[in-house]
Amino acid sequence: MLKLAVLVSGGGTNLQAIMDAIENGTIKDTRIEVVISNNRKAYALERAKNHNIPAECISPKSYETREDFNKALLAAIDSYNVDLIVLAGCLVAIPSIMVEKYRNRIINIHPSLIPSFCGKGFYGLHVHEAVLARGVKVTGATVHFVDDGTDTGPIILQKPVMIEQGDTPEVLQKRVMEQAEWIILPKAISLIAQGKVSVVDGKAVITD
Ligand code: GRF
Repeated sequence: MLKLAVLVSGGGTNLQAIMDAIENGTIKDTRIEVVISNNRKAYALERAKNHNIPAECISPKSYETREDFNKALLAAIDSYNVDLIVLAGCLVAIPSIMVEKYRNRIINIHPSLIPSFCGKGFYGLHVHEAVLARGVKVTGATVHFVDDGTDTGPIILQKPVMIEQGDTPEVLQKRVMEQAEWIILPKAISLIAQGKVSVVDGKAVITD
């Protein structure tokens, strides 16, 4: 059984895709042990509660220092004894103590084809605004392991999405979610649950 902690900050549509995939059998032998958000207003917490999944808010605002928050976040995750941490629309900078302790056991979904349109400042709608401003014809989403950088860890899965005439950032974001994010994040978790993903020489390798 692959035990997950899912970290969220917003609407939780990627969390919903994971819960649905577990429920319909696309993801096997996997259980979400806890959903943790830095944002107490995150609808993702409601989604977890509606599925009887433990949901916690651990907010930096509740701690004197960032270091105290980082320690509290790590202690909370450790307490659930999980195998994999999934960043699903999570806007928190993951502390290096956590990256180290869970080396190659933290994955993130990013709404572009890394290494394009990623790194500091590229999150949520900003990504799609930059994509449209540059005039690229293809974008997409990426699932990658989290390392000490921002969107720089080994790439596990990617899925392309075509830009269409007249796209706005909002329309494009929805298409990238529907056609890419909500497909490759569950698929990556399923592959990891089956033991089919490893990291060799800094690159993610998927074995059939
Ligand atoms: C998504 O675009 C995701 O790629 C990014 O955050 C956005 C919101 O995700 N990381 P969700 O609806 O909260 O899952």
